[in-house]
Amino acid sequence: MQTTLKTRHVALVPAAGSGSRMKSGTPKQYLELMGKPLIRHALETLCASPGIDRVYVVLSVGDRTWDGYDWSDLEPKLVRLFCGGPSRADSVLNGLRAIRDEMSDADWVLVHDAARPCLAQWHVSKLLDALSHEEVGGLLAIPVADTLKRDDGHGHSLETVSRDRLWQAQTPQMFRYIMLRRALERAREVTDEASAIEAAGLRPRLVEGDATNLKVTYPLDLHVAEWILTNRSD
Ligand code: C5P
Repeated sequence: MQTTLKTRHVALVPAAGSGSRMKSGTPKQYLELMGKPLIRHALETLCASPGIDRVYVVLSVGDRTWDGYDWSDLEPKLVRLFCGGPSRADSVLNGLRAIRDEMSDADWVLVHDAARPCLAQWHVSKLLDALSHEEVGGLLAIPVADTLKRDDGHGHSLETVSRDRLWQAQTPQMFRYIMLRRALERAREVTDEASAIEAAGLRPRLVEGDATNLKVTYPLDLHVAEWILTNRSD
């Protein structure tokens, strides 16, 4: 693929989920974390990153909460799109379609979960640096540290799964605009972008991040995220 000096980097943040595992009436992205909606933490990091030209947030079509907050300090770099879909992959694909007129095929898209509020500036710059000479792209990930068990469907351990060469995928996941769009159009049942790229026969680069970039899924995760944000030195 031909690349030019003008290749841009944009972030796309899917935030159209309901967060049902949090057992809260409020969608996860709007839960309060240190006095701000959860999603604001990652958006601030992405908007402050000099390597990122624009930050798109994908909200559900019927989102009535976003406009209740003041985002003016992050604009005009931050742009909202009301085009979320029934799954995360649908939300990302709808977002990619919505921005097609502003993108060149070779531009990079960094997809980042709204539910990962502890994204640090060094996570973003490490990913950008590591992928600057890659053609396909890649993702932040961490090598699996725990011994893994597969259950028998009834709460007993059936077997131990080797953790050899296993990684836990995180976000951001960074791919060329056209490559990602085509891959997602063909593989809709995926839980991350890298799976769609793999299904297209390509191999995303694994860039080692760290455990502080956790995804808030359960209520306890909010406390862990608060601890990380309060105690980090970067
Ligand atoms: O639910 P989960 O934590 O896997 O969601 C990951 C990210 O995908 C969250 O930022 C969530 O808001 C987003 N999502 C979405 N559209 C959906 C489902 C999830 O944008 N239909």
